[in-house]
Amino acid sequence: MQTRKIFLAPSILGANPLKIYDSIIAMENNFDWLHLDIMDGHFVRNLSFGADFALKIREAFPDIFLDVHLMIDELKIILPQFIKAGASLVTIHAETEPQLLHASLNEIRKAGIKSGVAICPSTPVENIFDVLEVADLVLVMSVTPGFGGQKFIERSLEKVNKLVSIRAAKKYNYLIEIDGGINLNNIALAVKSGCDAIVAGSAVFNNAEKTPSEVLKSMRANVEEVFNFD
Ligand code: DX5
Ligand code: ZN
Repeated sequence: MQTRKIFLAPSILGANPLKIYDSIIAMENNFDWLHLDIMDGHFVRNLSFGADFALKIREAFPDIFLDVHLMIDELKIILPQFIKAGASLVTIHAETEPQLLHASLNEIRKAGIKSGVAICPSTPVENIFDVLEVADLVLVMSVTPGFGGQKFIERSLEKVNKLVSIRAAKKYNYLIEIDGGINLNNIALAVKSGCDAIVAGSAVFNNAEKTPSEVLKSMRANVEEVFNFD
């Protein structure tokens, strides 16, 4: 039986903003990373959290792995703020200042944390070929960034397949993360396609029958089933 570590990364954007602290507690540690979606109202058509919010989470949960997904334009200003706030991994978009992408990924690594590069559904994997050597993670967006609760774009898994092949051919080490529209019905497919980290927002926090902790346990069970049948 072949196994590999799968990281469950619930997106707190899917929780009721008035109950974020309680929502983190409600997961009862059945997650690996806490995914923080940062939106500036410019790169995407929505606003979310600032670096002070990340800092408060870091202070309240010192041991949490903070997976910060920056959907922003002003990297120069905002990136250092999230590094300082205690992010464990910062992912930046390939579409944001592509001329600075390599340098920005290096800047993240130099701060002693993990670097990630994200691509929107309309961006081909080819656009990030030349920065894969400095990425600890590649985030494949499976919805248009900006909002939770959208429908999964299945074609994104073709990019995951491609990234798996490139990683093997070039002996790279990046993890592959999928973000958008993941739920209990498609998580197994994502894992089979080669995803290592799974982001899920509304599926975890807006389930009418299950608590966040129960959803995550079911997700873990679905993932384990993939390996049991391999
Ligand atoms: C979308 C965000 C996602 C989103 C996931 O811009 O990057 O992380 O919150 O939410 P769901 O799982 O509801 O698609
Ligand atoms: Zn995200």
